[in-house]
Amino acid sequence: MVAAEFVVVANRLPVDRVVTADGEEIWRTSPGGLVAALEPMMHTVDGAWVGWAGMPDLELAPFTADGIRLLPVPLSASEIQLYYEGFSNDTIWPLYHDVIAPPQFHREWWDAYVTVNLRFAEAAATAVAKGGTVWVHDYQLQLVPEMVRNLRPDVTIGYFHHIPFPAHSLYAQLPWRDQVLRGLLGADVIGFQRTQDAANFIAAVKRRLGYETKAALVAMPDGRHVHVKAFPISIDTTPYRELARRPDIRARAAEIRAGLGNPKRILLGVDRLDYTKGIRHRIKAYGELLDQGRISVEDATFIQVASPSRERVDAYVHLRDEVELAIGRINGDHDTLGHTAIRYLHQGFPREEMVAMYLAADVMLVTALRDGMNLVAKEYVATRADNRGVLVLSEFTGASDELKQVVRVNPHDIEGMKDAIVVALEMPREEQARRMRSLRKRVLEHDVDAWSRSFLKALEHAAAHRHHTHEQEHA
Ligand code: G6P
Repeated sequence: MVAAEFVVVANRLPVDRVVTADGEEIWRTSPGGLVAALEPMMHTVDGAWVGWAGMPDLELAPFTADGIRLLPVPLSASEIQLYYEGFSNDTIWPLYHDVIAPPQFHREWWDAYVTVNLRFAEAAATAVAKGGTVWVHDYQLQLVPEMVRNLRPDVTIGYFHHIPFPAHSLYAQLPWRDQVLRGLLGADVIGFQRTQDAANFIAAVKRRLGYETKAALVAMPDGRHVHVKAFPISIDTTPYRELARRPDIRARAAEIRAGLGNPKRILLGVDRLDYTKGIRHRIKAYGELLDQGRISVEDATFIQVASPSRERVDAYVHLRDEVELAIGRINGDHDTLGHTAIRYLHQGFPREEMVAMYLAADVMLVTALRDGMNLVAKEYVATRADNRGVLVLSEFTGASDELKQVVRVNPHDIEGMKDAIVVALEMPREEQARRMRSLRKRVLEHDVDAWSRSFLKALEHAAAHRHHTHEQEHA
């Protein structure tokens, strides 16, 4: 295999191997914001992507899909349970999302996390060319930067953290807190979504490891300097803008509205079915507005797309039960034969259909309790070239640091959220346009291309600095 100058390492490959209802095995785009953000960048560089293909015990040779070289890393059924569902998604995910669900701490999960991280690190170390670059992504692989550095001291290493990094008071619960910090500090540049995440990380490094820090630089005992900074991620706006212009998709948006009985307004929520997304809070607020007669199903139908996620993790099983019970009750109480209160879709959809839904939605509800960024908010804005529609956005999302002209909500405050929904439903056209214009300016200027360019520039800078220091030391 030809060594690659640039290697991305992420838990998932951009495509997942899945079995369809007819038993056929196919490749499908992987879920989540990480893949959505990284995929466009990979088309512009000559690189390779190391990741898992989404199924147990799949030993696959490297292959190329959609122009991207993919290097699959196998996971056994037990590793999926201990490393992916366990440590990644039942320890780190809830801990880093401010313990919205209680994190579980199990030593055997940690052991599997170390083993699997080493496998990813070895795959990256084998794939990368001499003096090349390895870019590691997200919370599933926090030990990989240090492991790659040990295996390949010649390469430049970046790490980007797609989810929040918590305050030290919460982070300190992690039994392996020092090992994880050391793992991350193997990178030359560590990127976070928000300045607060970067500040939380720096504070943890100071408190736990006692390393000196100056502004955004951590001084390591081995003489290296690690650059820590916020690089808010974004989307490739082009396909959203193009699809939103297409007559067939605009017709589909009208068809969606007609299919719901032409309600005066459509509210939309689009999330992975995850307890961090505030889906229950949003449903409660909407249900109470109906109960109190402040709105009716003819005034405002609510479409909730909840794509299936991590379905074998207990907290997700419970969430699904709670969400479906709540929706069943609200629909039972308020549906008419012509109109439904909540049209619930426990499915993922192709981008064309998502854009049609965004175009049909008068109000987009993004009410996460904690979210690294939330790219759905940016997708909605990117499609609304007509300058119509209102974005209701939780202050606990990374996106809220950037998107100012929204109807901002605290999703824990149900009364506040009810008022915000009513304000959004009643917002005059001119005000919608004024706000949407400024939101669009931000999203179109700060797209995913700008994000990856600024991260890679910081990485280049760090590499140049490292070489310089190295030469001085050996002069
Ligand atoms: C978030 C995470 C990603 C993850 C995605 C989907 O966006 O930041 O790392 O891949 O959710 O979750 P899953 O567990 O299906 O990979």
